[in-house]
Amino acid sequence: MKETILVTGGTGFIGSHTTVELQNAGYDVVIVDNLSNSSVDVLDGIEKITGIRPAFEKVDLRDYDATESVFKKYPTIKGIIHFAASKAVGESVEKPLLYYRNNIISLVNLLELMPKYDVKGIIFSSSCTVYGQPSAENLPVTEDAPIQKAMSPYGNTKQVNEEIIQDYIHSGANIKSVILRYFNPIGAHPTAYIGELPNGVPMNLIPFVTQTAIGIRKELKIFGNDYNTPDGTCIRDYIYVVDLAVAHVKAMERVLEKETDPVEIFNIGTGNGLSTLEVIQGFEKATGVKLPWSYAPRREGDIEKVWGNVDKANKVLGWKADTPLEEVLASAWKWQCALRERGIM
Ligand code: UD1
Repeated sequence: MKETILVTGGTGFIGSHTTVELQNAGYDVVIVDNLSNSSVDVLDGIEKITGIRPAFEKVDLRDYDATESVFKKYPTIKGIIHFAASKAVGESVEKPLLYYRNNIISLVNLLELMPKYDVKGIIFSSSCTVYGQPSAENLPVTEDAPIQKAMSPYGNTKQVNEEIIQDYIHSGANIKSVILRYFNPIGAHPTAYIGELPNGVPMNLIPFVTQTAIGIRKELKIFGNDYNTPDGTCIRDYIYVVDLAVAHVKAMERVLEKETDPVEIFNIGTGNGLSTLEVIQGFEKATGVKLPWSYAPRREGDIEKVWGNVDKANKVLGWKADTPLEEVLASAWKWQCALRERGIM
């Protein structure tokens, strides 16, 4: 057995997939989640896949004392992967203080507790949202591209959290961190025991696609077809959630076992940009399901095109996103069908 890792937000979409990959790599996992946007049933899914039920504590990380009690109970925790955060862009505009309290205080509490409980490293979930719309010469975007003023309080919490980690480490704190800037995570575990469970009407493309394909939504609207892209629709770098989960395992190994800079930043994506239209065509090809869709006006605040230069993660982490798109889209569809079979949606 390797070290014990605390996974905050471990019952969420990316957290649950990362827990599985950590367990597969031999780590012992403790999950902390306040279940504000996920269900405790996810633990059953994880256990079905790996045969190991991770330890679970229902704790709100804004509560310093409750958070400290986790480190007291599990004194072997050596690393943290910090997913727990609110993530809806629109909601963050309406409720900025909720986002600042949730996303900032939690990280500050964890950082304060790390040296006290001899926790060596923290992997932080950041986002390509910090780049805003990169200029044409900065695409694909590298980690050195300029950070742009955030377009929402949500985006700002990612930027501020990156700065908090860097400031704390530069102050001499004896911890290390890897900041992972994700592009667009999609798909589900190939077993369909875990996946993404959006609340209400999905905002993200893939859940909307699968819900439309199964008949929950009448039609997918493609937001905008007059962008400056080859087919006029937006371009993103869609990264398979299982590949993304594996990147966390690599990052954790690096933080705990290698002599490295105390803070490192990596883009985590495929390195390929796909248009919304290409994703829809890919989905139809992968599943054989015809998707009803039409063009609608642009969505406010959308970035026209962004995809990552992922050379640094490929070379330094020794990691690559290599699952073919059709397999990824088929996994999302299998998950949607499994939800239907279980009567969930
Ligand atoms: C998402 C997240 C953002 C995160 C970023 C990077 C939301 C709303 N946005 O943004 O927080 O920082 O990934 O990880 O959660 N689209 C349609 N029709 C739909 C839904 C989406 O055409 O019904 C299009 C969008 O206009 C966009 C693309 O699909 O061009 C992807 O959209 P989405 O999945 O929401 O991701 P991002 O906008 O990249």
